[in-house]
Amino acid sequence: MSVEFILNGDAVLSHSLESTRLLDVLRDEFALTGTKEGCGEGECGACAVLIDGQLINSCLVPVGQLSGANVRSIEGIQEDSPLVRAFAICGATQCGICTPGMVLAAQALLDKNAKPSLEDVRWALSGNLCRCTGYARIYEAVLLAAQEMAE
Ligand code: FES
Ligand code: FES
Repeated sequence: MSVEFILNGDAVLSHSLESTRLLDVLRDEFALTGTKEGCGEGECGACAVLIDGQLINSCLVPVGQLSGANVRSIEGIQEDSPLVRAFAICGATQCGICTPGMVLAAQALLDKNAKPSLEDVRWALSGNLCRCTGYARIYEAVLLAAQEMAE
């Protein structure tokens, strides 16, 4: 069987087994390698994508569940978006493994809350682990992007 869904704005057809993790479908079938694998167990957020606007760990989602869904991976975020620029300006990336998931978690927050507080940002990114940055610069980047989007 094949599964049809929307991926970064385009209708796509996956021919993978329905039990295949969305993470693997993105990386192996569609060559969208921006989505990273960290723990593979739903704990780190490195593989996070937006499904119908919700932040979801793609390592936990079988592609068979996605019929008709709207999936947005990091490739669906424009490189010149305020969030991506803010991550660069603030030095919020080191090894980069967590960054796609962080950006998507931040996008999910800003889609719902255009003026988040630091606490809002901390809460929204609490499911995304970073081993490198100490988080402060990531939070700073999200707040900077929110400020820029408001102006
Ligand atoms: S790789 Fe999916 S949550 Fe860690
Ligand atoms: S930048 Fe390395 S895990 Fe976050």
